[in-house]
Amino acid sequence: MNNAVAGFSKLSKKEKINWIANEYFSNPEEALNIIRNYWNSDEKLQQLHDEFIENTITNLYIPLGVAPNFLINGNYKTIPMAIEESSVVAAASKSAKYWATRGGFKATVINTEKIGQVHFTFKGDAQKLEAFFNQIKPKFFSDTQSITKNMQQRGGGILNIELRDKRDLLDNYFQLHATFETKDSMGANFINSCLEQFATTLKEEAQNTDLEVEVVMSILSNYVPNCIVRAEVSCPIEDLTEKHIPNPQEFAERFVQAVQIAEVEPFRAVTHNKGIMNGVDAVILATGNDFRAVEAGVHAYASRNGQYSSLSHAKIENGIFTFWLEIPLALGTVGGLTSLHPLVKLSLEILQKPSAKELMEIVAVAGLAQNFAALRSLTTTGIQEGHMKMHLNNIINQFEANDEERHQIKAHFKKNAVSHSAVVDFIENLRKK
Ligand code: MEV
Repeated sequence: MNNAVAGFSKLSKKEKINWIANEYFSNPEEALNIIRNYWNSDEKLQQLHDEFIENTITNLYIPLGVAPNFLINGNYKTIPMAIEESSVVAAASKSAKYWATRGGFKATVINTEKIGQVHFTFKGDAQKLEAFFNQIKPKFFSDTQSITKNMQQRGGGILNIELRDKRDLLDNYFQLHATFETKDSMGANFINSCLEQFATTLKEEAQNTDLEVEVVMSILSNYVPNCIVRAEVSCPIEDLTEKHIPNPQEFAERFVQAVQIAEVEPFRAVTHNKGIMNGVDAVILATGNDFRAVEAGVHAYASRNGQYSSLSHAKIENGIFTFWLEIPLALGTVGGLTSLHPLVKLSLEILQKPSAKELMEIVAVAGLAQNFAALRSLTTTGIQEGHMKMHLNNIINQFEANDEERHQIKAHFKKNAVSHSAVVDFIENLRKK
C-alpha cells in the first residue's frame, strides 16, 4: 500500500525524485539512475523543459525523424515527424517519393475560422434577451479592444458573435457563439481571453436590466468545421504502375473499394483514420502544436453526418485516379511552444518557417501520404511485411544484440519472413553457438 503525499508540487525536484524512487521501487538507486540518464546535460535546456509542466522529473524521448521528397503545390518539402511507431516515417517517405513522380500533392486551405462559446442560462422572455443582446453587441467588440488590437493589426480578430437559443437541448441554456480569425497563431489564449471578457460584459450589462443571466463557462471549441484543409493526389490510372503495382486498374479499383469500406463501416473507419492521424499527429508534435485538440476536432468532424466515417475519399473518373482528404486543423506557427522549444523551432525551420495555412497544408499532406501508404500495403502485400521489417530493429534492441549479431540477424531476415518468434529463435540459436 503506497502513501498519499501532501504538498508534492512544493518539493524540490530532487525531493520529488527521491520520493518517487523510494515509494515505488525496490531498487531506488536504479530508478534514480534512469531518471537522471534522461536529463539534458545542458542545465539551462533542462530547466526549460522542467518548466513546461509541473512536477517534471525527467524527459521522455520520442524520435524526431524527417520524411523528404514531399512535392507539395510544386515545392519540395522535408517534413519533420515526431513519432514512436516504427513504420510511420518510412511509409511517409515512400509515399512522398511515389507521388513526386506523379504530379505531387495539391493542398488548399478552404477556410480558417475558429470558434468559442460563452455558455449561460437565462430564465425569462427569450425575445427580451435577444433585444438586449442586439443592443449590447457593439460592447462585446469595444470591451475586448485591448485584447484584439494586435490580432487586428495582423489581419485577424473577432469575426462575429451570435446569441444562440439552446433550450431544445437543455433547460434555460443559451450561448454566445463567437467566431474568430487568428492568422498564424492557434489562438487558444486569444479566444479564451475574448470569451472571458464577453462573459464579464454580458453579466455587467445584465445587471443594469431585470434580466437574470448566469454564466456557466467560457471556452474555445476544438471542433472547427470551418477551418478545413484539403490535400489531394491524382494521376492517370496507368501511371500508378510500379514494382508492387503490376496491374494499375485492379490496384485503383481495390484501393477505391478499401476507401469506400471506411466510408460506410465505422469499425474500419476508425482504423483507417488512425492511419491518417499517424501522419498528422507526428507533424503536429514536431511543430509544437496541440495534438489532443486536433485529434478531438478531427474525430468530431469524421462523425459530422451522424455516423463515424472515413476522412479520405477516392474515385476513378475518366481513367483518372484521385485520392483526397479534408480535415479540420487549428494550428499555429507563432506563440505557444513554437518559440520556446528548440526542436520545434528547428522543425519549423526545416519547413522553411511556414504560415499557419502552409502548415495546415503540410499536415494534411502528411495524413494523406500515410493513408495512401497504409491502403497500398493493405490492398497489395498486407501491412505485416513492412511493419515487421521495421519491428526487427525493436526486437534487436530488446535483446541488446552486439554489432556482429545485428549484422547476422539483418542478413538472415533480408531473405526470411520476420515474426517476433522467428527473430527470438534466431537470436537464441546464434547465442547458443
Ligand atoms: C497502423 O498504425 C495504421 C494502420 O492500421 C492504418 C490502416 O489500417 O489504414 C495500418
